[in-house]
Amino acid sequence: MSTTEAVHVPEVKTAAELAQQPEEYRTAVEKIVISHAVNELYGAQVFDEPAIKLAPTPYAKWLTCRVAMEEYHHHVRFKALADEIGVAAQRMDPEQKRPLSIFSFELKTWPEFCVIKAIADYAEILQVEDLLHCSFHPLRNLARITMPEEKFHAKFGRDFCLELIQRGDAAEVQDAIDRYFPITPGFFGASQSKNNEIYRKWKLKQRSNEEMRQDFLTRVTELVERDFGLKLPAVS
Ligand SMILES: [Fe+2]
Ligand SMILES: [Fe+2]
Repeated sequence: MSTTEAVHVPEVKTAAELAQQPEEYRTAVEKIVISHAVNELYGAQVFDEPAIKLAPTPYAKWLTCRVAMEEYHHHVRFKALADEIGVAAQRMDPEQKRPLSIFSFELKTWPEFCVIKAIADYAEILQVEDLLHCSFHPLRNLARITMPEEKFHAKFGRDFCLELIQRGDAAEVQDAIDRYFPITPGFFGASQSKNNEIYRKWKLKQRSNEEMRQDFLTRVTELVERDFGLKLPAVS
């Protein structure tokens, strides 16, 4: 059957009801849950937790602790859902399931962390937003819980970038954007993604990777050029 063919899309309210769905639906749900569980953990380990040390003031450390706590909690929540739907633990091991390229950046400075939160967490907001209408309700519920926290993370990044710019460190913020931004559009996946086609067929996700990427680029351009008064590097 073609993945674009119209199908009856179920509203799946519980993990128990998931077991009665077609295999393609179950596999698609598992892939989304695994991806979030792995990437929330990996991001917390390579960015948020190490950033506590980089934060320049007690106030910044406190807020960074809160961000790290919330990112670990996102992993814990997605991992609990994965356990509930019967995903084997090794499928969520970052050693087995390669984390996303946005985490390949080697974090060394506070301005880099602020840029990562302002840009990458905005990308995460778009992903979570897309799950708010997911036909698998446990994922929809997780999206509703995590959304305000992801918004806080992006605002945290934006506010601290503005603080750096206002105190004369705009060059450091620009340098971090120049090195970090080019790896972010890939976060949304391939334009002709078979997985994304299946997610949309079953109303697990609503938008194509390309639509989300364009939305992201528009928003990041506004953030960097209008709000920060800096330049967004060209990406291929
Ligand atoms: Fe998160
Ligand atoms: Fe976040």
